[in-house]
Amino acid sequence: MFEWNESFSVDIPLIDQQHKKLFDIGERVYRLIEEDYNNKNFHEIMNLIDELYKYTKYHFEEEEKIMKFYNFPELNIHRHEHNKFIEYLDDIRIGEIAKEEDSALNDLISFIASWIVRHIGSVDVKYKEYIMKKNNRFFDFKS
Ligand SMILES: [Fe+2]
Repeated sequence: MFEWNESFSVDIPLIDQQHKKLFDIGERVYRLIEEDYNNKNFHEIMNLIDELYKYTKYHFEEEEKIMKFYNFPELNIHRHEHNKFIEYLDDIRIGEIAKEEDSALNDLISFIASWIVRHIGSVDVKYKEYIMKKNNRFFDFKS
């Protein structure tokens, strides 16, 4: 479900690396849900969702630092998207959304996967284009 490929590249190695790690954690959550026939992994799934929440939060902060560094004009809109998603993951993490039903967990992970794919493809791509235009080269940001 979570498969990173070159089309997701934002041409910033640090961020590509973080996106790959996000996909990795997402894929681990997905697989655990898939093999969880009797809800016996529920606790483990929640632990992984907690890991996903923490890593996503860290990653968004890193991305926002880069956008700020380059005075990206749409930083606030972008940050708003990040915050909404973090709130969503936080709600799952603290048990507000999660229910002990396979179908509910499947829906959650599908939503998370499609959100991340859409966000990288249609929102992150905007700072990618902006930074590329400003620098006219591939960029190697070190935080
Ligand atoms: Fe982003």
